[in-house]
Amino acid sequence: AYTAQPFIPEGPRGLPTLRRAAADCRGCPLHRDATQTVFGEGTARARVMLVGEQPGDQEDRQGKPFVGPAGHLLDRALAEAGIKPGEAYVTNAVKHFKFTRTEPGKRRIHKPPTLREMTACAPWLAAELAVVEPELIVLLGASAGKALLGSSFRVGEVRGALLEREIHGRPERLVATVHPASVLRMRDDTERKAAYEGLVADLKVAARALM
Ligand code: URA
Ligand code: SF4
Repeated sequence: AYTAQPFIPEGPRGLPTLRRAAADCRGCPLHRDATQTVFGEGTARARVMLVGEQPGDQEDRQGKPFVGPAGHLLDRALAEAGIKPGEAYVTNAVKHFKFTRTEPGKRRIHKPPTLREMTACAPWLAAELAVVEPELIVLLGASAGKALLGSSFRVGEVRGALLEREIHGRPERLVATVHPASVLRMRDDTERKAAYEGLVADLKVAARALM
């Protein structure tokens, strides 16, 4: 089975050690076509960990999570909810960009990761959690939820509620919400605005849980 496990450093690990090791991960085939590993960003003292799905086109080029259009929307929503960038560690369930092209040389279109790829990459997220030990995890969309809570996870069933679940043998507090990219994909202005307000409302639940 594909797994990142052999690439995870043993012994005392901090974020810099993990990041360096992740740069060389070949735990699944996604590293082949992507530009680079996009590891999480933020300090080990972050109070909240935000988990997305996988890097997009801009993230793949810049090597940082949530720096493209979805990231800009997320930044705006976080500010509105009262979560400061400095108190957040931002990462993804899968660390390499997966894409297809409609034609050679054309724009790269994001493809959702499979359960196998999420399972392969899960040891990195587990290692990040073990180092950061956040007070709260924010799940951005279904993939993040499936990666941490299992494949039966449905955003719609639990979004906006403060959850308590055991993850890797540790009790964790979580808030789930929609993925910011799902807001951007909405064509209708009214629907998009409502979806954005829903995202902000869920993030306010997270902000309150950090008070
Ligand atoms: N979408 C994600 O899930 N993560 C990113 O880093 C960017 C877009
Ligand atoms: Fe390793 Fe994850 Fe990249 Fe696959 S997606 S190669 S498991 S870092």
